[in-house]
Amino acid sequence: MGLNIKYLTSDRTAQGDEVYTPFYAVAPILKYVDKSKKIWCPFDENWSAFYQTFKENGYKVIRSSLEDGQDFFSYEPAAYDIIISNPPFSKKDLVLKRLDELGKPFMLLLPINSIQGNKRYDWCYKNGIEMLAFDKRIDYHTWGNFQTYTKGNHFGSAYFCRNVLPKALIVEKLEKFERPLKEKTRQERTET
Ligand SMILES: C[S@@+](CC[C@H](N)C(=O)[O-])C[C@H]1O[C@@H](n2cnc3c(N)ncnc32)[C@H](O)[C@@H]1O
Repeated sequence: MGLNIKYLTSDRTAQGDEVYTPFYAVAPILKYVDKSKKIWCPFDENWSAFYQTFKENGYKVIRSSLEDGQDFFSYEPAAYDIIISNPPFSKKDLVLKRLDELGKPFMLLLPINSIQGNKRYDWCYKNGIEMLAFDKRIDYHTWGNFQTYTKGNHFGSAYFCRNVLPKALIVEKLEKFERPLKEKTRQERTET
């Protein structure tokens, strides 16, 4: 079996956190989110595909970001019902701990192998984790550039959920489509 070189050499630093979710990876979750609930996207600037998609489809959604001085580990909105986003992978365990503290339902996009390990097993078991997985890998937009993405990503992703899905495991066909952003990301704005 060949080595997964990209996995072994992947960037697990804060700079490596600057990968963005494509619109096609947000579209499948709409049907699982109750429209009466208020969604909080905590790692999301205005242009995020999560924030844009929920807003365009008439969901109640608020967002926050480090860029706006709202640190997920200390900031919490006054009122919300469910947390949905793609967290910084370099801080994955701290994010999971914070989700425990917050105690709300969530849908979090994570590498599918995040389920492995003794501590993660305990966390998944304790939280009754449900998973929404796909037949294809998600190719993220990388290095703050929403115009390009990693082709043939080296890891699979799934939504890890608490008190959202109707059953423990759902596997869906992922319909990939191209949809560029109307506005520039933070990095694209800085570079021009
Ligand atoms: C994997 S990216 C996903 C962002 C985006 N919402 C998306 O999916 O397109 C995670 C983001 O979280 C931000 N971040 C890192 N630490 C954070 C913190 N403590 N609080 C809020 N955001 C943080 C990173 O700067 C990065 O932009």
